[in-house]
Amino acid sequence: MHRMIWDERLSTRHAGMASDHRKMVELINRLGESMAEGSSKFTRCAIFDEIIRHTRSHFDMEDRLMVGHSYPAVEEHRSEHASLVKKLLTHKQWIEESGKDFPATMLHFLDFWWTHHIQTMDEEMAEFITASPADVQG
Ligand SMILES: [Fe+2]
Ligand SMILES: [Fe+2]
Repeated sequence: MHRMIWDERLSTRHAGMASDHRKMVELINRLGESMAEGSSKFTRCAIFDEIIRHTRSHFDMEDRLMVGHSYPAVEEHRSEHASLVKKLLTHKQWIEESGKDFPATMLHFLDFWWTHHIQTMDEEMAEFITASPADVQG
């Protein structure tokens, strides 16, 4: 089963963002372990719900940081976040309605999305906010 590796590539220079990203990797791997162990679909759905919850709260935190630091690319970053949340919710609905289980490709998709997003948009944003004074504390 695919396992997402945490290393420095996935860290950012903002500690709060980095610790959220680390937790995200743990949750994705927990979903992978649950698939490999063949535990119940109920367990996997609960982990996937936690992934959605953590994703939303992480995106809310980054939104506050961007607004607090008057980050210029806030709209572009927000729309990337919104598109992931929409995909996760659509997938969850499909799992519930189709009666099917999580495909292994879900792990690859999550790994790819988070790795790419952290290394591009998040890194750019973290560089900006750590170099600029906050309008409000974020
Ligand atoms: Fe992030
Ligand atoms: Fe982000």
